[in-house]
Amino acid sequence: MIVHEGKIDIETISTFEKGPGSVSPGFYNRTMEASRDLSVALLKSLKPGIALDSMAGTGIRGLRIAKETDWQVVLNDIDPRNTEIEKRNAELNSLDLEIMRGDYFCAVSSRKWDYIDVDPFGTPSGLLDAAIMNLKNNGIVGVTMTDTANLEGKSLHKGMRIYGSRSVQGTFSREISTRIFTKYVIERGAALGRSGKPLLVLRDGHFIRVFVRFKKGNKVADDSLKDVRIAAVDGEDIGPLYTGKLYDQDALERMKDFQFSENTRKLFENFKNEDMMFLFYENSNGQREVKKSVIIGELQNKGYKAGNTNFNEKGIKSDVGKDEFIKIVSSL
Ligand SMILES: C[S@@+](CC[C@H](N)C(=O)[O-])C[C@H]1O[C@@H](n2cnc3c(N)ncnc32)[C@H](O)[C@@H]1O
Repeated sequence: MIVHEGKIDIETISTFEKGPGSVSPGFYNRTMEASRDLSVALLKSLKPGIALDSMAGTGIRGLRIAKETDWQVVLNDIDPRNTEIEKRNAELNSLDLEIMRGDYFCAVSSRKWDYIDVDPFGTPSGLLDAAIMNLKNNGIVGVTMTDTANLEGKSLHKGMRIYGSRSVQGTFSREISTRIFTKYVIERGAALGRSGKPLLVLRDGHFIRVFVRFKKGNKVADDSLKDVRIAAVDGEDIGPLYTGKLYDQDALERMKDFQFSENTRKLFENFKNEDMMFLFYENSNGQREVKKSVIIGELQNKGYKAGNTNFNEKGIKSDVGKDEFIKIVSSL
């Protein structure tokens, strides 16, 4: 079966339009298109270097980066059946690149990289240190986390054990789990004497994707933890979690003309709103639900910034204060 994504065609054995996909070789998962679109767009917006797609599967992400940017790309996967599929896919797209077959740890430690993509099934815990250690100074890790259930309620205890933070179920759980995972990535870097700066994060469907740039130095590593805090949410202490900026606005500006798929474009348009505030307001005045677009329009009329968030379909991000927000919503 051949599928098209971005500027390439990919031979796959099975395709999944929704959900987490499969552990079988050669699978294509449409749900992850946004994650791949953003990897390609981000790298295209930066000075080219050498990138490793360390768990490449069909090779789709690395092949897209090779086709759509000027980066040099190396593919790796442990499964020999995927290696064969990657070779055919490289040929199908007239791409000549290095394809390795081996364990993740061998691949990442084979040289120093400007970008390492870590895209495992489930949690990347146990994998991140090796990626961070094998980045060049100012290199970037793009990492997927599909273990969201453990940070969003299924097993808060397991989330605590793996990611070292207390989460909460409910309205804010998607933003909180994303910020706990971001904290986790930054903390792994700090433990290794690197300061991690998020460039962008994505919370969509069943996964979180985080892109973090790491700079070497103990002093900067110490500083990178200044935004890691415990936060009181609805009277409960949550975290520690990352409360700083999730988006590099310069990177977003450079990425804005990228030809995203329709779904990724919708998600991308909300990125500029996410750092207006920590968490978000809900579109309710207590007695009745006011249309979200009406509230956003009114906030903007009054000179505030306001917009949608990917963390909750009823959420509103704004730079307005809480008391003023309540006053404005009550007046509608
Ligand atoms: C979620 S899939 C990757 C999907 C792919 N990046 C994409 O965008 O379609 C995870 C991949 O990791 C590979 N893998 C699992 N354990 C590995 C290991 N220890 N070293 C390298 N690859 C591994 C699997 O064979 C599988 O292809």
